[in-house]
Amino acid sequence: MKILHITCSPRGQISESYRLSQQIIGHLRKRDPAARLVSRVIGGGAIPHIDESYASALGAAQQSPAETSREGSMSLSEQLIRELEDSDIVVIATPMHNFTVPSTLKAWIDHVVRVRRTFTVTTSGKVAGLRDRPVFVAVSSGSRYSDEHPRQSDFLTPYLKAVLGTIGLRDVTFFSVEGVAPGSDEAVRARARTDRALQDHFSSGSPLSLRTEVCV
Ligand SMILES: Cc1cc2nc3c(=O)[nH]c(=O)nc-3n(C[C@H](O)[C@H](O)[C@H](O)COP(=O)(O)O)c2cc1C
Repeated sequence: MKILHITCSPRGQISESYRLSQQIIGHLRKRDPAARLVSRVIGGGAIPHIDESYASALGAAQQSPAETSREGSMSLSEQLIRELEDSDIVVIATPMHNFTVPSTLKAWIDHVVRVRRTFTVTTSGKVAGLRDRPVFVAVSSGSRYSDEHPRQSDFLTPYLKAVLGTIGLRDVTFFSVEGVAPGSDEAVRARARTDRALQDHFSSGSPLSLRTEVCV
């Protein structure tokens, strides 16, 4: 089993989302101790935004020479898509930034959600091109967003479901640690709540393939 671990926080390994994703990986490794981990760091501007020739190629109605030349963003796009294709499980560690994904994760999405490569456009809509596999998303946020009376909007969860679904990744499970702004009293309680949710989820012995589910 190969786990692709994508980390998006500018705070790297001290980040809450990284910590939560490590817990998820720990649970996955209990199920398969031989699982191999492939690490893709995209936080802190580790991957650039797409370039002009990539945007022009994707905007063209038909395949353009830039799509086969594999230079610039096209080359990075190919590398990132292959990492996804090669994985059996994907774990994404991400903070919430301004109610949605950080711009670094959006930059990764712009490289992997690529027309004529990971999805195609037909007269009846977009058709996904990747094989489905379990995706676990570890989200950290300064305030809560998923309880009965949320303190803010959540564009992160619906957006990730929609955009990953476009390329065929529909089996997405979200775990979140909410209310963990630095110095917040809520942080300890939030981490404990998330630990319990993880324990419940992975100790149930349920298959990894669960379809979209949100576990706080
Ligand atoms: C640019 C920026 C925007 C943020 N926007 C939000 C937000 O919209 N909602 C929220 O709850 N927290 C927001 N936060 C707080 C982070 O989500 C929170 O501190 C989180 O725990 C950071 O996770 P990390 O340690 O994995 O980076 C923001 C933080 C930054 C730096």
